[in-house]
Amino acid sequence: MAGNITFTMIKPDAVRNEYIGAILAQINEAGFKIVAMKYTKLSQEKAGEFYEVHKERPFYGELVDFMSSGPIVAAVLEKENAVEDFRTLIGATNPADAAEGTIRAKYATSIGENAVHGADSDENALREASFHFAQTEIFK
Ligand code: CMP
Repeated sequence: MAGNITFTMIKPDAVRNEYIGAILAQINEAGFKIVAMKYTKLSQEKAGEFYEVHKERPFYGELVDFMSSGPIVAAVLEKENAVEDFRTLIGATNPADAAEGTIRAKYATSIGENAVHGADSDENALREASFHFAQTEIFK
């Protein structure tokens, strides 16, 4: 399975701004198949656990507060070379540096409120997918 799936979240800022439809359309148009999806909300505890690798970073508290501030859309996406191609599609973490036409360039407002998450490796994609979904909820 490694190599052809990635994990994404449409973050609370993009959900509040009503960008779910536009973002999912752009993801589909780029050739990704949605193999799992849920509209949900992370508790502070769950957000903290998801972003545990950033625990020592100065922005960790802000990140956890933001990610638990409202509903998100979590999804598993399938495509050849999914992790890398999805990171190209979403653009740089800071929307000010994101290439024109990328999801973050179009829909993000700041480095903290950057519209979407994308897994950064095959290993993390699998870990993050199983954090949010049971195997029976992934339709590959
Ligand atoms: P994401 O791809 O979800 O993974 C970690 C997140 O931390 C990242 O997107 C950003 O939203 C957030 N982040 C990274 N750097 C900063 C920063 N300097 N200030 C606030 N949030 C940040």
